[in-house]
Amino acid sequence: MKKLLIAPSILSANFGILAEEVKSIDKAGADWIHLDVMDGHFVPNLTFGPPVIKSIRSATQKPFDAHLMVSNPDELIEEYVNAGVNIITVHKETTTHLERTLIRIRQLGCKAGVAINPGTSISGLELLLDKLDLILVMSVNPGFGGQPFIPSSIEKIKNVSDLINNRPINIQVDGGINDIVSHKLIEAGANILVAGSAIFKGISDEDYKMNILALRGNN
Ligand code: DX5
Ligand code: ZN
Repeated sequence: MKKLLIAPSILSANFGILAEEVKSIDKAGADWIHLDVMDGHFVPNLTFGPPVIKSIRSATQKPFDAHLMVSNPDELIEEYVNAGVNIITVHKETTTHLERTLIRIRQLGCKAGVAINPGTSISGLELLLDKLDLILVMSVNPGFGGQPFIPSSIEKIKNVSDLINNRPINIQVDGGINDIVSHKLIEAGANILVAGSAIFKGISDEDYKMNILALRGNN
């Protein structure tokens, strides 16, 4: 079984003290730092881009996991690599030549991921398995933190898990995750849990640590 990784989404952090927040979740036991990049076009919200990411890169040694919710990822990938990200996930809905995009991400030295919206099927991924390091099953419609978890995502995780079989591909889940659903996601085959509001609750590193431990359960 793959090791369970917790990837706090800084979307729910206090942006006024972002570097401090990144240091706090690092200390609290985050495995990856999840960066929700939104362009106000593919999703109805805007967040941050390469300059902000660059400015927090030195706050931690942990991998930066960029989730690009943008309409034109192909034009932007290099900028995110230069800003210091380590994993780049693009949405299946946003690129015409998905295989080419994944190859390019790897050529630039990053792990390559593809994200699937709740209303998007996983069909076609079977053709790309040797190009993928990560499949991100969205368990909310992307755009905002704090939305309720969509239960049908669990079946989708099982389908992705069957599809990848024993290949070294991570299954990440993102949206509405709390300590009530986390064990069901792990059981279904997920090994990376992204959470924003469930982790950035409370004020101290100790609170964040307890929130991360609660998501891990016994894992
Ligand atoms: C949604 C983002 C998620 C989300 C996670 O568009 O990709 O990362 O903000 O936040 P919570 O855990 O609050 O749903
Ligand atoms: Zn995300």
